Amino acid sequence: MTDTDPSLATEAQAVREALQARIAAIYIGPAAPLDLLLVALLSPGHVLLEGVPGVAKTTLAKAFARALGCDFRRIQFTPDMLPADITGSYIYNMREQTFALRRGPVFAHVVLGDEINRAPAKTQSALLEAMQEGQVTIEGHTLALPDPFLVVATQNPLEQEGVYPLPEAQVDRFLMKLQMGYPDIEAEVQMLATHDRPRPAVEPLLDAARILALRAQADGVHVSPALRRYIVELAHATREHPAVALGASPRAALGLLKAAKARALLHGRLFVLPDDVRALVSPVWAHRVVVTPEAELDGLDGARVVRSALDEVRYTGPADR
Ligand SMILES: Nc1ncnc2c1ncn2[C@@H]1O[C@H](COP(=O)(O)OP(=O)(O)OP(=O)(O)O)[C@@H](O)[C@H]1O
Ligand SMILES: [Mg+2]
Repeated sequence: MTDTDPSLATEAQAVREALQARIAAIYIGPAAPLDLLLVALLSPGHVLLEGVPGVAKTTLAKAFARALGCDFRRIQFTPDMLPADITGSYIYNMREQTFALRRGPVFAHVVLGDEINRAPAKTQSALLEAMQEGQVTIEGHTLALPDPFLVVATQNPLEQEGVYPLPEAQVDRFLMKLQMGYPDIEAEVQMLATHDRPRPAVEPLLDAARILALRAQADGVHVSPALRRYIVELAHATREHPAVALGASPRAALGLLKAAKARALLHGRLFVLPDDVRALVSPVWAHRVVVTPEAELDGLDGARVVRSALDEVRYTGPADR
């Protein structure tokens, strides 16, 4: 793809704006979480939505999934859930004396894993393995998952009771972690004012084939050598931070590169700008940067390490690419 073929980028930007308009009737709040969900869809990568109860995590994830126009399944995680409840199992048919495959809810284009940290580790890993591999193994048989395959998982903050925190290595499977905060006063007042109006059903805007086409376009977006170096220097800054036990990995750097390309396309450009990178470092890296236990006690976290890397590393390439 060349920089001189702007119609593709214009189409992607129109998709973003149409999606914002459609979801605004259901989720009232800042545009950022929805924009980031779209970036993840095209990067491609999976998303973890974190927030206290009642901040519209499920509402937003469901509306987004419906707008994508693909098959969509919701898995409500509970403490008694088994891995086979996610992936499926072989059921014995007495009459025919054969085993028939019962596919689990993971076999869908878009999977909402709601309250993922309410299930025990084994069950969580059934979903996380599917995310990593794009396939699942059921009693020795390996089955491919649909393409596109996008997981949006929600979780309550780890201080809450009755939750099983996701292990660090598994959090790394998510391209992004989005923090859903409280709405501002205006948005919350508007939500209360409109709560009794019937919410329109979200009309599908895309379908599987269009999502794959948009992904291919995002993949072709241009990234200058200076911007690639910028990403790597940011990753090094997190690794060299004195209070960091685990900095941004090369996988994290690659995730940021892909996300920046998707963001550029969704903003109507076929080239990445430094601002695409800056806007995405925190959602893509903050959850993967692990600080030392002592630093954690002092209130340091991944998000602050990422912010100090952004302050420290100067982008030295041309301003417009
Ligand atoms: N920003 C918002 N816009 C529209 N509705 C909202 C918003 N915030 C909360 N609500 C309403 O509040 C209720 C709770 O939302 P929802 O179930 O999506 O929250 P949640 O974050 O998934 O909570 P939990 O962690 O308990 O699952 C819903 O009825 C939803 O319509
Ligand atoms: Mg919920």
